[in-house]
Parts: sequence; C-alpha cells; structure tokens
Amino acid sequence: MEITFFGQSCFEVVVNGKKILFDPFITNNPLTEAPSESFKPDYLLLTHGHGDHVGFKDTPDDNDALSILKNSGGTVVSNFEIVTWYQNHGIENAHPMNHGGKWSFDFGTVKMVNAVHTSSMPDGSYAGNPAGFVISSDEGTFYHAGDTALHQDMKQISEEFNLDFAILPIGDNFTMGIEDALKAAKYVGANKVIGMHYDTFPYIEIDKSRCLGLASEAQIELILPTVGEAFNI
Ligand code: NI
Ligand code: MN
Repeated sequence: MEITFFGQSCFEVVVNGKKILFDPFITNNPLTEAPSESFKPDYLLLTHGHGDHVGFKDTPDDNDALSILKNSGGTVVSNFEIVTWYQNHGIENAHPMNHGGKWSFDFGTVKMVNAVHTSSMPDGSYAGNPAGFVISSDEGTFYHAGDTALHQDMKQISEEFNLDFAILPIGDNFTMGIEDALKAAKYVGANKVIGMHYDTFPYIEIDKSRCLGLASEAQIELILPTVGEAFNI
C-alpha cells in the first residue's frame, strides 16, 4: 500500500487502487503546503469532528473535508452524526457507520472502533463519539486510531485482526504520548507504528530521537514519515 502523510492525522492510503483520505487538515495546517484542491479521494474517512481533523477554516460552516468532498465526489465515511452534517451541507455520497460496525467497500472492509476522546464540529454541532478505523483488505490490514487515550478495548483489535501496522497519535497532551502509544501497539498487536498528531502545535511538540529510542527499546518499528512524501508499506 502507498501512504502519504500530510501532517497531524491526515494520511492518504491507496488500497486496491482506491484513494482513502483520513482526517484532512490542510488549509490551516502549518505542516503541509498541499492545496486542498489537489485531493481527489475516492473515500474520505473522518475519525471525529474536531477542527484539526475536518480541517477548520475561517467560517465555521466550511472545512477542508467539505471542499474536498465537493471537488472530488468522494464518499464520506464517519459516524451517523458527522455524515448527517455533510449531507446537510450538500454532500450526497455518504456512508454512515457507528462503533462496532463494519462494512465491505470496493477496496476492503472498514470497522469503526472505539476511541477515548471528545468530539464536536467546528460550528459547535454535536458530532457523536470519536472513533478509530480498522481497514482490512487483501493488500493488508491497518488501524488508524484517530485521537485517543490508551484504552483496554484496543486489545479486541488484536483478537480480531492481524495488523500489518498501526497509525497512532504520539504527541501527548490531547492524546496518547509515546509511552502509551507503545503500550497501544502491544494491545493492538502491531510491531510497526506510524506516528501522527505531533509537532503541529506547541502543545504537541515531540523529541523525535527520544520517541525513536523508546520505540526501539520496546521493539517497535516507529515510522515518522516526511510530510508530503509517498512511501510504500
Ligand atoms: Ni480531537
Ligand atoms: Mn486532534
């Protein structure tokens, strides 16, 4: 699978030829210069409604996810409340889910799993509860945790799936820091972790060499990808 990181929690992953974009935070993201018009995902997966995941803009009624969906005609996949928000803003290609549910799409299967965090849309609308996603396909299986604390439900992921890698927040303060993320990697059964949700703002700045050192002590391969550069995994 080809993966590109755009900073914070935004990744584009190509699975079976379909472009899957997670949590687009583009316009006001200090780490990426990619214009939001350059994104043409087949599917847009949103873990929760916070501005650094839907891509807040100056007007609370607009966000990067909305403009990308309008430009691309891609399908938004999220919880019922968030999907309804996009439908109310003119988006027709939409697939609502909720925690514990899975659905087979043309690229593979998506299961919506628990996250321990909070959620609301930038305009203040109720956004339901935050989530993570497990994507499984014949090309591989991975977990995008969204924003979350370490929690015991992560152990269910290793009971059900054989992950090739996990995308976990490591920036601390609003989510897990590196120590809990390395525990999470064990819980979900991943020995390869792509770090996210770090260095975008002062609250979540990390010491990369310390994180890499702790990961290697824990025998976890920690990947901190260069923003905007595609790599294969
Ligand atoms: Ni959040
Ligand atoms: Mn966040």
